[in-house]
Amino acid sequence: MPHAPEYVVGMERLVGAVQELSLARDIESIMAIVRRVARELCGADGATFVLRDDGKCFYADEDAISPLWKGSRFPMEACISGWAMLHRESVVIEDIYADARIPADLYRTTFVKSLAVVPIRTASPVGAIGNYWASHRRVTPDELKLLQALADSTSIAIENVQLISELEARVRARTAQLEAANRELEAFSYSVSHDLRAPLRSISGFSLALEEDLGDRLDDNTRSHVGWIRSATVRMGTLVDDMLSLARANRVELDAAPIDLSVIARAVADDLGAHTPERRASIAIADGLVASGSATLMRAVFENLLGNALKFTGRTADPRIEVGSTEAAGERVFFVRDNGAGFDMSHASRLFTPFQRLHSSQDFPGSGVGLATVQRIVHRHGGRIWAESEPGRGATFFFTLSPTSS
Ligand SMILES: Nc1ncnc2c1ncn2[C@@H]1O[C@H](COP(=O)(O)OP(=O)(O)OP(=O)(O)O)[C@@H](O)[C@H]1O
Ligand SMILES: [Mg+2]
Repeated sequence: MPHAPEYVVGMERLVGAVQELSLARDIESIMAIVRRVARELCGADGATFVLRDDGKCFYADEDAISPLWKGSRFPMEACISGWAMLHRESVVIEDIYADARIPADLYRTTFVKSLAVVPIRTASPVGAIGNYWASHRRVTPDELKLLQALADSTSIAIENVQLISELEARVRARTAQLEAANRELEAFSYSVSHDLRAPLRSISGFSLALEEDLGDRLDDNTRSHVGWIRSATVRMGTLVDDMLSLARANRVELDAAPIDLSVIARAVADDLGAHTPERRASIAIADGLVASGSATLMRAVFENLLGNALKFTGRTADPRIEVGSTEAAGERVFFVRDNGAGFDMSHASRLFTPFQRLHSSQDFPGSGVGLATVQRIVHRHGGRIWAESEPGRGATFFFTLSPTSS
């Protein structure tokens, strides 16, 4: 038998409601959808959304021609939604005053003459949807089917919302744990690096004193041993300083202000002696590389990127370094390019990890901390950093700062 046109219209409404419910992210949105659609599905004068709450029926929400029981709690045994939940079945009552299950006193102040209630989640009901009419109206089997289908979708939507909020809470807790662990690690590495400086100064100072005090009495072998101690302490001093600046990149307050990266890069290039005869590198720095960020931290970025560019062009015949910017997908991308030793892109993922180096320290000395520091600074500005290279054909380091700061 073909379905009545109202049933088809009802089905369409139901499908729409199911789609809306699948997007709902909180119980309030679910209730807002359900109370409206429940009424529409069977032309009711009112609908209630009832939740099972600590052994009570909580009339959480309603949509009706005049107020029903929104906000009230009734014992499960003393109301008809409780009956539907306890018996796990729907209730249809054409004349409420003729049905013994209805607490008539609760209805006398309302417009209700007939009703239909369906449980939400039949297996173990978590709530109920009530529909009410101001006339003696018997809900049709088709309408009841639609109403029950709405209740089933509602129960899935409620479960989704619970799942999502549980997951969100777990993510929040986990993030907080990770942040705390990170802060601890940072504080630890900062204080370790800091505290290492004093004993290091002693070793360095006393080995120098030893060399001076013993003077000619040192045989060549011992003298070279003392020399090793001294160069090792210098090396360790650099490492400690690098680790401190890595830790600082996270600790320094990010006081963003308009800055001119061209000016910063030029000052850094001068400090690094890039233009001195023995470095003989040609450095081209574009004008107007304006951004917003921390001048102190961006200076550290160029110290490292230009420092690397100079270092890795150290063995190049005609070293050329370029600082500039390009536009990609509406975003300003800054770059530092050189024509030095380059590296194999298959190892690119290790570039920004502390203490990872792609070249031997015989060829190019270093601690492997510089780019880790640069990445932290760029991330703190809300930007990204990446590199492109080919062995023997130079390297380009690209970075963005957050969209508002570039
Ligand atoms: N411009 C570049 N050209 C070729 N390789 C590079 C360049 N910049 C970085 N690299 C590679 O990435 C590695 C990591 O760079 P990073 O700046 O972190 O360390 P480093 O320069 O070796 O030491 P540090 O900067 O701590 O003194 C380098 O050891 C090198 O292998
Ligand atoms: Mg470096």
